[in-house]
Amino acid sequence: MSNPYILFVDDDDANRLVFEAVCGDEFRVATAPSAQDALDFLAQHEVGVLISDQRMPGMTGVELLEIARREHPQVARLLITAFSDLESAIDAINRGHIRRYLRKPWDPDLLKRELHDALELYELSDKVQRLERRLVDTERVYSLGIIAASIAHELRNPLAFIKENLERARSLTARSLETLAAEGDGDGAGRRALQKALTQTGSALDDIEAGVQRMAAVVQGVEVSSRSADANDVDLRDVLRLTLRMVQGQIRYAGRLELAPRASPWVRGTTRDKVGQVLLNLAVNALQAVEANPYGEGIVRIEVDHDEDWAIVEVSDNGPGVAAGDRAKIFDPFFTRKQGEGTGLGLAISKRIAEEAGGTLTVEPSPLGGAMFRLRLPLAKR
Ligand SMILES: Nc1ncnc2c1ncn2[C@@H]1O[C@H](COP(=O)(O)OP(=O)(O)OP(=O)(O)O)[C@@H](O)[C@H]1O
Ligand SMILES: [Mg+2]
Repeated sequence: MSNPYILFVDDDDANRLVFEAVCGDEFRVATAPSAQDALDFLAQHEVGVLISDQRMPGMTGVELLEIARREHPQVARLLITAFSDLESAIDAINRGHIRRYLRKPWDPDLLKRELHDALELYELSDKVQRLERRLVDTERVYSLGIIAASIAHELRNPLAFIKENLERARSLTARSLETLAAEGDGDGAGRRALQKALTQTGSALDDIEAGVQRMAAVVQGVEVSSRSADANDVDLRDVLRLTLRMVQGQIRYAGRLELAPRASPWVRGTTRDKVGQVLLNLAVNALQAVEANPYGEGIVRIEVDHDEDWAIVEVSDNGPGVAAGDRAKIFDPFFTRKQGEGTGLGLAISKRIAEEAGGTLTVEPSPLGGAMFRLRLPLAKR
């Protein structure tokens, strides 16, 4: 676990000493006498909270925090300001440059509470960011896996066809040689040439067979190689919470999200990032589906439950739904109805992750009017 700094910026030496004395025991404190020093420190250390005085020579606190927001967006930003500067502080909040301001002189208990809050915010967004990065990695690995598997799948039929014809060519060659031999010992040059050609054809066919066997082994290898060895128990609700943070903005735009966790199951046979990947794909698909609705009338409902053996997540929406004829196809790699926008890999990857864990991913019409995707994963016995 990281241990980020609280960076306090003030040109007044006495203020920095007081801050250190008050907060040094509870937090990992660093101080800087100017905005420039603060930016240098930010560039080299992990800072969770940046707290700055407003009035400083050179650069004001708001200006510093504005730069910090651009260059280190994950850092939580607080401003300390005198009454006379209140207006610029409020303006900075409204423009999203800072999270809060504290009035001078600050109250130590209030200050510490704010610092704890800000630090928690930083840690949460840091966690989301790390998860996001991992999801991108997983997506990449899975896309490759899916592509490889579909190629392998496509190769299986032609390979079988080649093999069959190989056998045939080989037995024809053998039979021709036998016929030639049986015809007695006429010794023309043409006959010798024919015999030689047939013998060479036979050994060429042997080489082809070796090649085909290699290809068959590769195809088979691809189909089993991407199983994961790092599976462990996963807290479904925790993953859901983090996943939803990623789509929160979009949800607010589209309509409303109904979250109905009736249970808090743990699942096994998979990893956090894989489960996150599935939930994210389902949530994004649902959001994209309700975009067809009038502004603000979209509903995405996510229910979490379990029975004796399975954890069950249902993601339903009131979008246009999946046409009956498409229901089997939507899980195929590269099947998409979002021309130019979708890769058609989301559901293929998700289904594969579910099945690797020993679970299932299915679709049916939703009571809300759109589609309902049901993810079942084996319950962890805890
Ligand atoms: N909630 C839903 N409602 C209606 N149709 C859906 C829904 N979810 C998926 N589909 C259909 O299934 C298709 C395949 O979905 P999938 O997630 O695999 O790919 P995509 O969303 O088109 O592209 P990508 O996920 O790569 O951005 C979609 O194009 C869409 O037609
Ligand atoms: Mg999708």
